[in-house]
Amino acid sequence: MITMELFPLSLLLTLSLSTIIFLLFRTTAAARRKLRSPPGSTGLPLIGETFQLISAYKTENPEPFIDARVAKYGTVFTTHVFGERTVFSADAETNRFILQNEGRLFESSYPGSIANLVGKHSLLLMRGSLHRRMHSLTMSFANFTIIKDHLLLDIDRLVRLNLDSWTGRILLMEEAKKITFELTLKQLLSIDPCEWTENLRKEYMLVIEGFFCIPLPFFSPTYRRAIQARKRVTEALHLVVRERREKRERGVKRNDMLAALFDSDCDDVTFCDDEIVDFLVSLLVAGYDTTSTTMTLAVKFLTDTPSALAQLTEEHEEIRARKGTSVALEWDDYKSMPFTQCVVNETLRLSNIISGVFRRAMTDVKIKDYTIPEGSKVFASLRAVHLGQDSFQDARVFDPWRWQKTLDPANFMPFGGGPRRCPGHELARVALSVFLHHLITRFCWKPAEEDKLVFFPTTRTQKRYPIIVQHRNVVE
Ligand code: HEM
Ligand SMILES: *[C@@H]1O[C@H](CO)[C@@H](O)[C@H](O)[C@H]1NC(C)=O
Ligand SMILES: *[C@@H]1O[C@H](CO)[C@@H](O)[C@H](O)[C@H]1NC(C)=O
Repeated sequence: MITMELFPLSLLLTLSLSTIIFLLFRTTAAARRKLRSPPGSTGLPLIGETFQLISAYKTENPEPFIDARVAKYGTVFTTHVFGERTVFSADAETNRFILQNEGRLFESSYPGSIANLVGKHSLLLMRGSLHRRMHSLTMSFANFTIIKDHLLLDIDRLVRLNLDSWTGRILLMEEAKKITFELTLKQLLSIDPCEWTENLRKEYMLVIEGFFCIPLPFFSPTYRRAIQARKRVTEALHLVVRERREKRERGVKRNDMLAALFDSDCDDVTFCDDEIVDFLVSLLVAGYDTTSTTMTLAVKFLTDTPSALAQLTEEHEEIRARKGTSVALEWDDYKSMPFTQCVVNETLRLSNIISGVFRRAMTDVKIKDYTIPEGSKVFASLRAVHLGQDSFQDARVFDPWRWQKTLDPANFMPFGGGPRRCPGHELARVALSVFLHHLITRFCWKPAEEDKLVFFPTTRTQKRYPIIVQHRNVVE
């Protein structure tokens, strides 16, 4: 889940003498063992190349920091950012190797500030057999059978409900966030949108802001506010969980993630309410910004590429025409959107909401001709591969038609891979497709003002993509 934008700048501030000594020692120990680590430059003492990284990503170029270093050192190189020597990989094969060897050679690594926000029982922080088990539980809650038989109905209904109120000027990013939040609460807890969900969402946005600030309560009011908001969010969820437990004991059955968590109680492990709440919080965190930003950027790319929008409109009008007066999308409809899937893939490829993932080497690991020393931080950049000219022709152009040709699937990993591969990948695709369907068949739109993509601290548009929408004259 970690993008490099999460600011462990606190690390810089708190790097103590002992850390310096430790780092020095490690370097010399590594040298003694004659390890050849990937080439690169570690910049200034302590600060390393952190400022180069931050200022690079403030430009409009999506990948300046990595591009420059790949040109100089190759696709696997060493740098020093956020207080630590870090090996960057911009190589598809190396990335896959890193992700596949989760728990054996590498393990995921999050700064403590993130752990405080997602909660210590979060799936993101779990390791080993507990992680395997909970990951597969999450997968089975959002696998395609469940989406087909249960979740699609609500996704379709809630998307339409939200679009009903659209008129005139809207901030697309805000609307997409509202939709995504409502979908997730419905899927996790069977709660329909209401005042309670909207209030919870407001608290939630404060928690999310905490991910992108300097995580020191003393220095950062944003982080302090995020921690307080997290407390209110967990309190609210605790009440829901308690109530549902009581209902369950009285024999009331539900079909959602919470029920799956209760049911896994029956096996060897039982989950207490604290664990369940952390788990729910982490799912909300993981699915919220990612899916909503992807929705917004899909619309932006389409708006900027009229020929793609025209072809997509044709595909969805055909579906509409076939369905006559029945409004709700069904699984067969979803399965008959080949060009939409090209648009979805191309949006995921170009936007790279999760630009890459951080790991830590659990032992000395040989990669290519180099050795990554034990304990090293590693950043597998998914974006660098997606935007690399070696993997995709004219890689920085939005071209959904490229997916109609055969492409090497190895170069495309928007959802990561290995044991931590995103359990929400199918859900995100379906939500995005359903959203595009209803948007396109109901509205025309144009940008309300100039808005551009930025890549720091996260990929998004600067002004939350304001658009002016107008109803089309179609029978609904
Ligand atoms: C376009 C939308 C999405 C993108 C691009 C995305 C991307 C990713 C990526 C790259 C990872 C791997 C992180 C790592 O290896 O450390 C991940 C993990 C995860 N995602 Fe997603 N995701 C999306 C939507 C969702 C949704 C809708 C959910 C909710 C069900 C979700 C839940 C999770 C969870 C729980 C993890 C952690 C898995 C683990 O650590 O075992 N994601 N996601
Ligand atoms: C999806 O998960 C359900 C349990 O939630 C399971 O019964 C079903 O076999 C799974 N389907 C697939 C295709 O994995
Ligand atoms: C989109 O990407 C996935 C891999 O994540 C692939 O399985 C699928 O075939 C791609 N879809 C199209 C239309 O190329």
